Amino acid sequence: MPGKSNKTASEKGAVPFCSGDDPADGARTKLRQSALLDPPKPGKPAEPARDELQRWDRQIVWHAFTQMSEYEPLIIESAQGCTLTDIDGREYLDATSSVWCNIHGHRHPKLDAALREQLDKVAHVTLLGASNPTTIKLAKRLADLAPEGLEHVFFSDDGATAVEVALKMALQYWRQRSDPRPNKTTYLALANAYHGDTLGSVSVGGVERFHSMFQPLLFEVLRAPSPDMYRLPPGVTQETALDYYLCAVERILADEHERIAAVVVEPLVQAAAGMVIHPNGYLRGLRELARRYDVLLIADEVAVGFGRTGTMFACQQEQVAPDLLCLAKGLTGGYMPVAATLATHEIWRAFLGTHAESKTFFHGHTYGGNPLGAAVALATLDVFEEEQTLEKLPAKIDRLAEHLRRIARHPHVGDVRQRGLIAAVELVRDKATQEPYPWEEKRGMQVCDWARAHGVLMRPLGNVLVVMPPLSISLEQLDRISVTLEEGIINVV
Ligand SMILES: Cc1ncc(COP(=O)(O)O)c(C=O)c1O
Repeated sequence: MPGKSNKTASEKGAVPFCSGDDPADGARTKLRQSALLDPPKPGKPAEPARDELQRWDRQIVWHAFTQMSEYEPLIIESAQGCTLTDIDGREYLDATSSVWCNIHGHRHPKLDAALREQLDKVAHVTLLGASNPTTIKLAKRLADLAPEGLEHVFFSDDGATAVEVALKMALQYWRQRSDPRPNKTTYLALANAYHGDTLGSVSVGGVERFHSMFQPLLFEVLRAPSPDMYRLPPGVTQETALDYYLCAVERILADEHERIAAVVVEPLVQAAAGMVIHPNGYLRGLRELARRYDVLLIADEVAVGFGRTGTMFACQQEQVAPDLLCLAKGLTGGYMPVAATLATHEIWRAFLGTHAESKTFFHGHTYGGNPLGAAVALATLDVFEEEQTLEKLPAKIDRLAEHLRRIARHPHVGDVRQRGLIAAVELVRDKATQEPYPWEEKRGMQVCDWARAHGVLMRPLGNVLVVMPPLSISLEQLDRISVTLEEGIINVV
């Protein structure tokens, strides 16, 4: 555990506001004077040794979603394609795309070059009342590529902010359209949803373990069941599930539509819920219900966008055009934090008016639409075409499916599920009753630790093991990931 620092405030660089009050001031002044007379030697500070890096990583860096008292440093120094290399030269296959964002592999020459070229022009230009050619070109490209009707692009910097933007736009739209509906101030979201970690996104999220702590800060959201095909409600079968889940949504909409601004959904796959895969037709059904009950549909494709499910956008698989579409992660190939919220012309129009009318969308992030990120996003889209990334997916999807069929036979694998190049293996204590392993046993994490020791980097979602590699993964690499995962389960579970 990190020890308590023994440094004084002045050693840490803090300067008292009011000198003269503190008897130590005279000594400090002398120290400062001698520092001025004898300034530090110019030049690069010595590179920290490996052990020092590890110590700093444990004691200073506060890692996301990580229990720091148990954290074992993993320090990646370089990467190439789908392989990451740590400071000791050990290599790992990036089986979950550096948390679901890498698309074409690391250090892709085209992406690297796009970034360098943009650096020679400008690294950052604000979008608050100004613009730059690269970001404009990306907006046009996204509007052309997205499902029909999504003609306008608002840039932010992460998945959570893309969702915040969509939530706020939806609310403001209803207040400002020609026939205003100011009572539409709540949202309908799914149980176990995950939309990011800012407070609006957490409000529409529903992962108990992550979100319950923050309950006092969250706004009210109406909740429909997650259309889970593995853990079906009593009396519901695979055949009746679609109807059951859509009826549950419709009941809420029928009662509450007058106060609902939007339905928020992760299309096809609820990622952080444990890669819960929705029944075919669910998204299409949601689209129809949202239209019938006059609420907007927000599609959060932060995890599933950019080819993950087999098509560029998951919505395309059910011919759905949402009213607002959230994109991030794969948008820049996993290189840079750029996110986008796409909106229909109908929504955009409601924000137009004179300065005095104050219909402006008063929302923005300093780095929204950053040109370095935009440049690499454009290059990512080019590579999709040049390397025929989507066309090459079916063979990889089939290969992964083959492995999953074999892994499913293990006595403690309760379910395997797959949509495109997203796959999940759920460990259970009892296959017949679907009883999960207790959270405290960290079964998923243990398998991932085993895989890490054998050169495959994965991150579990509780008892669910996730395979979601870069789309550029080769068949041989997919074999290695799957076999390592299987051996991990056999050895650990
Ligand atoms: C569906 C979905 N939405 C939003 C987010 C949040 O994205 P970010 O971590 O970039 O804020 C995630 C992250 O995993 C996600 O899976």
